[in-house]
Amino acid sequence: MQDKVEVTVNYEGKTIVLETIKGTNLRKLLLENGLSPYSKINQKLNCGGNGICATCGVFILENKPKPTHWHDWLANKFYYPRLSCQIVVEQAMVIEIPQKLIWGSRRKPKS
Ligand code: FES
Repeated sequence: MQDKVEVTVNYEGKTIVLETIKGTNLRKLLLENGLSPYSKINQKLNCGGNGICATCGVFILENKPKPTHWHDWLANKFYYPRLSCQIVVEQAMVIEIPQKLIWGSRRKPKS
């Protein structure tokens, strides 16, 4: 039996809880559930999950996984959205799909 985890998604003012199995790619999970991480412009203009275009960004609000991709490492360090295509869901997490024109803006945490 595979371990299940919940991903809570804040999207357009709603909170949606998705159940998935550990090891699921976050971008795939979102798309399979009709929750696109892309802006309207990038619905078709994106790299298809290869970590090149940086248009699939989401903010991870709780249980941030360690970055494994150079862009994701920088995004994590400088508070830009993380690449959902480079995130493997291994534990429950809370994310937000931000409103964006293409990439999404920086969001520095309040101190
Ligand atoms: S889909 Fe292009 S970087 Fe994630």
